[in-house]
Amino acid sequence: MAVNIKKIETQALKDIEAAKNSDVLESLRVKYLGRKSEINAYLKALKNLDPKERAQAGKEANEIKIKVKKAFDTKSKEIREREVSEKIIKDKIDITAPGEKVEEGSLHPITQALRDVRRIFSSMGFYVVEGPEIEEEFYNFDALNIPKEHPARDLMDTFWVKKEEGVEPKLLRTHTSPMQIRFMEKHNPPFRIVVPGRVFRHEATDATHEIQFYQVEGLMIDKNISLAHLKGILTHFLSEFFKKDVEIKFHQSYYPFVEPGIDVLMKLKGQWMEIAGAGMVHPNVFKAVKYNPPGPDEWQGFAFGIGIDRLLMIKHNIDDMRLLYGGDLRFLKQF
Ligand code: PHE
Repeated sequence: MAVNIKKIETQALKDIEAAKNSDVLESLRVKYLGRKSEINAYLKALKNLDPKERAQAGKEANEIKIKVKKAFDTKSKEIREREVSEKIIKDKIDITAPGEKVEEGSLHPITQALRDVRRIFSSMGFYVVEGPEIEEEFYNFDALNIPKEHPARDLMDTFWVKKEEGVEPKLLRTHTSPMQIRFMEKHNPPFRIVVPGRVFRHEATDATHEIQFYQVEGLMIDKNISLAHLKGILTHFLSEFFKKDVEIKFHQSYYPFVEPGIDVLMKLKGQWMEIAGAGMVHPNVFKAVKYNPPGPDEWQGFAFGIGIDRLLMIKHNIDDMRLLYGGDLRFLKQF
């Protein structure tokens, strides 16, 4: 035979041993063990030999093939191990390098205030409930003793939702008071609830007015409940919210769904600030939810509506309400 298989073996083992990296080794694998390798060509050519010679030569060639393969595997493992450790050294983590700072977020001040409201009123046994922001005219006005042509409707500039034939007109609620009705329709006294939520008014915006803001409604119905209870509860709430003792007083006021109606004022640096509307639930409201009229032996109670934005502005000395809705991070990062 023309091909000297022993010579191929010697050359192959020498080349493999000398291989410096995996690329070189791979080309040697193709050269000596691949489909078109000399060893394969040799094995193929064996069919032309006599059977006796063929057996001997075939055995020898196969042994060589196995030997070369083994040398290849050993070298391959060695190179791989070396290359991996070189890569680790190259990419190694520098523990002395300065770290990457993770930006820490924070809750929006309104979210924080809403959480405070829930926490403080819950601690006084109030249930926290929520209601729809798109409300029916009936709940926002009529059932709250504000009939169609009542001038009190003008006090609340309203966003109306496009009218649909045969459906109760809808609007963006102008206050959280509609939840008084919704809750009383489904529950009997005694109970005490608060309703935090967003409300909407169709007005020009300025430093103290926004088209949306937050209120928390309160409603407590029981026997012998009076405005004295309201004063105690609001004083406690405000002291907890501001984390200091606060002084409040009531002023006579007017809301169609309470009688008498009052405004709650809080003393701040010698000045009285209005922070809530309130009063004793009006007999017509009880009528709308089919309760007996309030009286000495009957259920009676108070309702209040606190402006959450107002409280926040006082707490953090914010002079422009629009900052609360602007999403400016320079402002928000301070909370
Ligand atoms: N809903 C009234 C408002 O938005 C506030 C209020 C609530 C007044 C409950 C009295 C009782 O102005």
